[in-house]
Amino acid sequence: MDCIDVYGGRPLEGDVILSGAKNAALPLLIASLLTDAVIELKHVPDLKDIRTTLALLQHLGVEIEHRAGAYRLSAANVACFEAPYELVSTMRASVLVLGPLLARFGQVKVSLPGGCAIGARPIQYHLMGLEKLGAEIWLENGYVIAKANRLKGTTIRFDFPSVGATENILMAAVLAEGETVLENCACEPEIVDLANLLIKMGAYITGAGTSTILIRGVTKLHEATHAVMGDRIEAGTFALAVCGTGGAIRVMGIAPEALGTLLAVCEQCGAQVERFEDGFGMKATERMRAASITTEPYPGFPTDMQAQFMALMSVAGGRSYITETIFENRFMHCSELARLGADISVGGGIATVRGVPALSGAEVMATDLRASASLILGGLFAHGCTRVNRIYHLDRGYERIEEKFRALGARIERRI
Ligand code: EPZ
Repeated sequence: MDCIDVYGGRPLEGDVILSGAKNAALPLLIASLLTDAVIELKHVPDLKDIRTTLALLQHLGVEIEHRAGAYRLSAANVACFEAPYELVSTMRASVLVLGPLLARFGQVKVSLPGGCAIGARPIQYHLMGLEKLGAEIWLENGYVIAKANRLKGTTIRFDFPSVGATENILMAAVLAEGETVLENCACEPEIVDLANLLIKMGAYITGAGTSTILIRGVTKLHEATHAVMGDRIEAGTFALAVCGTGGAIRVMGIAPEALGTLLAVCEQCGAQVERFEDGFGMKATERMRAASITTEPYPGFPTDMQAQFMALMSVAGGRSYITETIFENRFMHCSELARLGADISVGGGIATVRGVPALSGAEVMATDLRASASLILGGLFAHGCTRVNRIYHLDRGYERIEEKFRALGARIERRI
């Protein structure tokens, strides 16, 4: 089974160019279902979850061409409206086909995603929104089945600013009859990226990136070309890495504000940050001071950066309180970081981290995507060698991360 060996104690220096964002590319690819015209997407990362999404779209009948670094997708001949268990169970984001298939074809059958390592991951906000738009929805043998003649616009308020539910209902509403107002929406940058593609396709959308989005439905969408935004979570992972190893890097291909409060937290810990239009510089010349964070919806501290931040706090000076409010089980990296010598205690959704001068290399096991990134960082901050097992989790969301770290001076090897 693949693993990665990390030899710690080396500073990081140089520039890193970000890949396209996994969490933007997935809904962007799925948006191709909304039209019979060709959608061209550039800057799509080569990740396991992307390949799963492409397989799902092909299963539905989408014709896909990958040429010169761009994907051209045509849903002109879609004749299947079912997302099967074997695909949905490997990638929860498959539920995003609900909105587009229902809006364009009036019917859809999607396996309930089930939980995953970080939580139960229910989809009631998605289903509530589709019902409000006029869909008839029922559950049968572990599948969600929905039918609708034509969706009709209305006002929908989410109980929680769910990223996936906002994306699903946004895609459904662009072909609904009349006006839809979405309230208490998620504001993540990936939602703005999706709205930008939909607008290029002829949709009428205002307010994406704020908590209230207005959509005026159209009857048909047309061809468009779009480049996937840079991956802000990859950017944050490199930012926290250099804070722990010391050194100076520049991260290119992202607007700094897309990282929410993360860069300000790095400055609070003692790093020097230089912000520019399409990226940022991060320099660390001393041991980081401890800081406490609470994960929140954007623009707060991203939950997808919580595990990586915990790795950094493991070697910071002082005590850090890390509160996870988005997912109910996102502390599984704690016990693996403890194998590297981290001093972490967990209780009531809060992890208390007492920084130690240095970690020491050990064999560890990844449990989910962002936990695997935190273990790579732990290895960079440790003396000696750290072997991270089950790195198939890492490959779901990071494109060639070991090559990127090596280019910054890290000693890191993938073992096949
Ligand atoms: C997206 O997941 C991201 N995934 C996640 O990234 C990210 O952690 C999350 O947003 C929060 O930012 C993709 O974009 C593919 P949510 P999503 O709906 O849409 C609960 C990564 O590591 N909830 O905002 O599933 C849910 O269980 C992944 O790249 C309901 O209860 O997130 C969770 O506790 C992990 N009912 C919270 O809300 C619902 O109907 C946030 O979920 C929907 C969500």
